[in-house]
Amino acid sequence: MKISEVDPSQKKNVMRDLTEDTLTEETIRRLQTTADPRLRQISGALVRHLHAFIKEIEPTQNEWAAGVDFLTRVGQMCDDKRQEFILLSDVLGVSMLVDAINHRMPQGATESTVLGPFFVDNRPSLPLGANMAARMPGTPMFINGSVRDLQGNPIVGAAVDIWHSDEEGYYDVQHAEAEPAMRGRFMTNDQGRFWLWSVRPKYYPIPSDGPVGEMLAAQGRHPFRPEHVHFMISAPGYETLVTHVFAEDDPYLDSDVVFGVKNSLVTPYIEHPAGLAPDGSHQESRFVELAYDFALKAD
Ligand code: BEZ
Ligand code: FE
Repeated sequence: MKISEVDPSQKKNVMRDLTEDTLTEETIRRLQTTADPRLRQISGALVRHLHAFIKEIEPTQNEWAAGVDFLTRVGQMCDDKRQEFILLSDVLGVSMLVDAINHRMPQGATESTVLGPFFVDNRPSLPLGANMAARMPGTPMFINGSVRDLQGNPIVGAAVDIWHSDEEGYYDVQHAEAEPAMRGRFMTNDQGRFWLWSVRPKYYPIPSDGPVGEMLAAQGRHPFRPEHVHFMISAPGYETLVTHVFAEDDPYLDSDVVFGVKNSLVTPYIEHPAGLAPDGSHQESRFVELAYDFALKAD
């Protein structure tokens, strides 16, 4: 044997014979060629936590295959109308964790919560006082509020997007004809105020006919979200606020399936008899009023 030749049987190679104890370190070592430092950090943390998870649960081959099958079905359930991966993130508390990390609000700013899958770009711009319920039946609901900065000054011309479910808990996009209803965009007036009419929404189950619904059932969890109205408020120079206002008397406030409830966002939906409404109009039937003042953080 020439001196330059190495006997393969003698060669010690740290990249082979990897064990439970060395696989994690070697996998992370190979990620060091990732050029983007943030991607390198994320990939390394992912491998570290994924390996720790596997070491903790020690899955059987069948359990591993069931997990792969579950994630495959989650992916297969996704299209331009249904996003089962976001739903999975929602019910595992991940969406609210990402929201919390990205919206550490100063004192006095309105708190944020999840966007949810039912926001759509196709919403009408409506004048103040308009009824955005379109054709939908239900108890009339008067929504009014203000948008201010953290010093209490009104924010004039803020865009206020509002959307919510119908009286049976379905959004317009869940109905076959899907014409926009119970959604609209309003601009605050010169006192930073907005007001409009709609119909009272209801608590509702998140879409649970897919693998996420199967998982919730296996975990003995219900799929409901408490009654709420969604708001997205933006104005130049301010951080866009994505939030909901929840009804105070809802039975699911303490068990929201996506963990989105915050005390500061819960308010009474005030019942009024038929008669004079806060906007001066005359209502022929009883109605509810949702009033909320929002405070935006500067950019
Ligand atoms: C919603 O409030 O529209 C929603 C949020 C998360 C998951 C499903 C629905
Ligand atoms: Fe919702």
